[in-house]
Amino acid sequence: MRPSLTAALALGIVFGLTSLSLSQNDDVFSFIPDGGRTLLSGLVEAGLPDIALNEITTGEKSSQEWLAFLDESMASVPAVAALDDYQRQTLADYLFYNAPIGTEMTAEALPMDGRDMTLRYCQSCHIVTVVITQSRAREAWLGTMNKPSHVEIDLTPEQREALADYLVVNAGIPIEEVPPELRAGGASY
Ligand code: HEC
Repeated sequence: MRPSLTAALALGIVFGLTSLSLSQNDDVFSFIPDGGRTLLSGLVEAGLPDIALNEITTGEKSSQEWLAFLDESMASVPAVAALDDYQRQTLADYLFYNAPIGTEMTAEALPMDGRDMTLRYCQSCHIVTVVITQSRAREAWLGTMNKPSHVEIDLTPEQREALADYLVVNAGIPIEEVPPELRAGGASY
């Protein structure tokens, strides 16, 4: 284990209650990239053509197929063209787990995304920094979530996979981008 990670864990365990009291909507977490719920509701708000809406409410595709669908939509849908590669991948993964979507596609009605799960389930025992600064492969994320220390977390196997996919694309955030109050040991971390 890297020394910085050990420090983050120690601090997280000592100050675990502090991080628990931080709400999901607190601005301090704004550096953590949007998940599929926010990306999709943003697209719907910006305006998606009926054909794309129809695809999302009726279609079932692999992540790769959703990504191809989004890539194709870039030419005709400015809001899709405005997404970067990471955001398109994040949204494609979200659609894989959640489409066909039966609910209203608002931020309030859509199912949780990987960012939501991270904030809700990954900071009660340690600081969220332990999670979002790690750059890992899918199997490594799933491996951690299957450890005895994590197996009791109230996420289904499918939610764990969705969370792993989100983290593969969006974690590995450099410590410099993490707000100081979430950095274990402050300047030395
Ligand atoms: C019930 C308490 C608890 C919760 C909730 C929790 N963790 Fe942990 N986590 C630990 C403990 C204890 C360690 C250090 C010992 C270990 O690795 O088993 C740790 C260490 C880690 C590590 C670093 C070491 C490793 O094995 O990779 C990562 C990454 C991690 N957790 C990810 C997560 C993620 C992702 C979530 C949310 C799904 C989460 N944790 C939620 C208890 C928790």
